[in-house]
Amino acid sequence: MFSLPLRDGAVLRPLEVHHAEEFAAHMGRAREHIRPWVGAGFLSSDVEGARGTLRRYAERQAGDGGRLFGIWLDGTLVGGVMFTDFSTATELCEVGCWLEPAAEGKGLITPACELLLDWALVERGLHRAEWHCRADNARSAAVARRLGMTLEGVNRETWSYGGVRHDKQVWAVLAPEWRAHRGL
Ligand SMILES: CC(C)(COP(=O)(O)OP(=O)(O)OC[C@H]1O[C@@H](n2cnc3c(N)ncnc32)[C@H](O)[C@@H]1OP(=O)(O)O)[C@@H](O)C(=O)NCCC(=O)NCCS
Repeated sequence: MFSLPLRDGAVLRPLEVHHAEEFAAHMGRAREHIRPWVGAGFLSSDVEGARGTLRRYAERQAGDGGRLFGIWLDGTLVGGVMFTDFSTATELCEVGCWLEPAAEGKGLITPACELLLDWALVERGLHRAEWHCRADNARSAAVARRLGMTLEGVNRETWSYGGVRHDKQVWAVLAPEWRAHRGL
């Protein structure tokens, strides 16, 4: 299976159904760290749940929709990036990401997202990529900023977690802006 280098010891690969056991073990390390910041449906708690997440993405990929990619650091699955939405009909996509705690702060996510955005906005010809995060998710907003995205607005009290309604930021980059950002 193909594997794209991100930096020393780190690669990006499709994350597929046959990775269910590895993905479940990774979720065991990541779950509580990412719980406040990602959709509840992504938080599997056993191998069957992990397989279900991977199967849902496989089915969406079969329809040229969402896609899921894992990041392996020195041979261990430590996180990933995904198209939570991808549509050639609307020419829009949305990118998401997560890491287990030990993999944070190593510069893995930004280059992984760059690969996804190159593919979506240059190779596949989509026009706009979005990034949604809780307004108090500073590390996620910092990735959007590093990717050259613009903070377009805040959806107020739209993200419920722990009995609190949080605001959600919407960041985006347009294809011409992305090409300029990447010097293409
Ligand atoms: C959001 C999240 C994926 C960001 O991870 P991250 O490690 O901060 O982001 P990157 O992989 O782009 O790495 C950037 C960090 O690595 C550091 N870094 C270390 N070596 C680096 C290198 N060689 N090159 C670039 N950056 C490097 C940067 O300084 C930066 O750290 P800093 O912000 O403390 O200065 C992570 O915080 C996470 O999983 N959070 C919980 C889940 C979540 O919020 N998901 C997003 C939902 S919207």
